[in-house]
Amino acid sequence: MPKPLIVLGIETSCDETAVAVVADGVPRIRANLIRSQLAEHTPYGGVVPEIAARAHLDHIEPLIERALAEAEIEAEQLDGVAAASGPGLIGGLIVGSMAAKGLAWAAGKPFIAVNHLEAHALTARLSDDVPFPYLLLLVSGGHTQLLLCAGVGRYRQLGTTRDDAAGEAFDKTAKLLGLGYPGGPAIERAAEGRDPHRYDLPRPLKGRSGCDFSFSGLKTAVRQIIAAAPALGPEDIADLAAAVELAICETILDRTTNAVDWFSRHHPEGTTLVAAGGVAANAFLRSRLSALARSSGLDFVAPPPALCTDNGAMIAWAGLERLRLGLVDGFDAPVRPRWPLDLAASPATERVGAR
Ligand code: KG4
Ligand code: ZN
Repeated sequence: MPKPLIVLGIETSCDETAVAVVADGVPRIRANLIRSQLAEHTPYGGVVPEIAARAHLDHIEPLIERALAEAEIEAEQLDGVAAASGPGLIGGLIVGSMAAKGLAWAAGKPFIAVNHLEAHALTARLSDDVPFPYLLLLVSGGHTQLLLCAGVGRYRQLGTTRDDAAGEAFDKTAKLLGLGYPGGPAIERAAEGRDPHRYDLPRPLKGRSGCDFSFSGLKTAVRQIIAAAPALGPEDIADLAAAVELAICETILDRTTNAVDWFSRHHPEGTTLVAAGGVAANAFLRSRLSALARSSGLDFVAPPPALCTDNGAMIAWAGLERLRLGLVDGFDAPVRPRWPLDLAASPATERVGAR
C-alpha cells in the first residue's frame, strides 16, 4: 500500500467555518470541525456577509490548530492544503483561501483551490467510493442541479433551477411559517407525523420534459394560504410544513426521474444515483430517491447527513482527489464568487439530450 495522501481542507463560503483533515487511507476522516455562525446571524433573519467574513476571521486559526491536533499531525506532514475558493460570499472565501495559502506556503505544500459545488459532488466518493460516471442531484441552499459526473473536473449540467434553489424554498417558506432558520431542518421536524395532503400546493414543472426546476410558485402559494387563513394554529402550521416538504420533494423527484431516464439511456455503464448538498440531508427525500433509483436498477448513495450540509471534509476530499491528479493551484489563484461546475451550460438548461 502506498503512503496515504493527507489534505487539510477549509470551508468558509457561507456561514460555517469548517476545517477538516482527510486521508485516502483508513480512517479517511482524521478531523472534521465546524463552527456554525447561527447565533451571529439569527438577529438579522439571514446571513449578513460582513458579519460572516469577520466571524470566519475570528475562528479560522484556532480551528486549523485544533484540526491538526485532533488528526495528530503537523502541518509539515500534510500533502496539500485546500480551500473552498468559490462560489460563495467573497469576504468569507478570501479569509479561507488566504488562511489555506498561508499554511501551505509556510509548510512548503501545494495549495488546491476547490469549487464548493465540486466538493459536494465528490463527497459520495469520500463516503462510499462511488465510481464514475454517476448521476448527481445537487440540492443546497444556493444551487439545485442535476449533473452527469464523468470524472474529477468533468461535469455536465442536465438541469438547474429557473428561480429559487430547493434549500431556498425550504428556508423562505419556513420563514413565512415562523419556523426559523435554517428552514430545511425546521420544516422536517415540524412535518413529522403530520398530514401533508390537507393543503394543496403546486408542483412546478411537474410532468414537463427536461430536468430544470422551479420553486418560486410554491412560496407564493404558501403566502396566499397564510393570507387567506384568519389565524393558523401550531397544528395548521405543522400540516402546512408537511405539505411544503412533500411538494418540494415531489418536484425534485419528478425532475430527477427524467434525469434517471436520460442517464440510463446514455450511460448504461453508470450504476449510481447520488444526492448531495444540504437538502440531501432530508430523510423523506432520501427514502423517495432511494426507491426511484431501485426502480431503475440503480444504486442510491447519499453521504451521511453531516457530510451533506457544508463541512470541511468535503473540501479536503475534493482537494485530495485533485492533488492525486496533479491538479494544484498557484498562490495567485483567485476566489470566484460565481463558479459554475459546467462552464458550457447556460443558467437555465436547455432540454436534456439537445446538446
Ligand atoms: O449545502 P448547504 O449546507 O449549504 C449551501 O451550500 O447552500 O445547504 C444548506 C441548505 C439550507 O437551505 C437548508 O435549509 C437545507 O440545506 N437543509 C435541509 C435539511 N438540512 C439542511 N433541507 C431539508 N431537509 C433537511 N434536513
Ligand atoms: Zn454547500
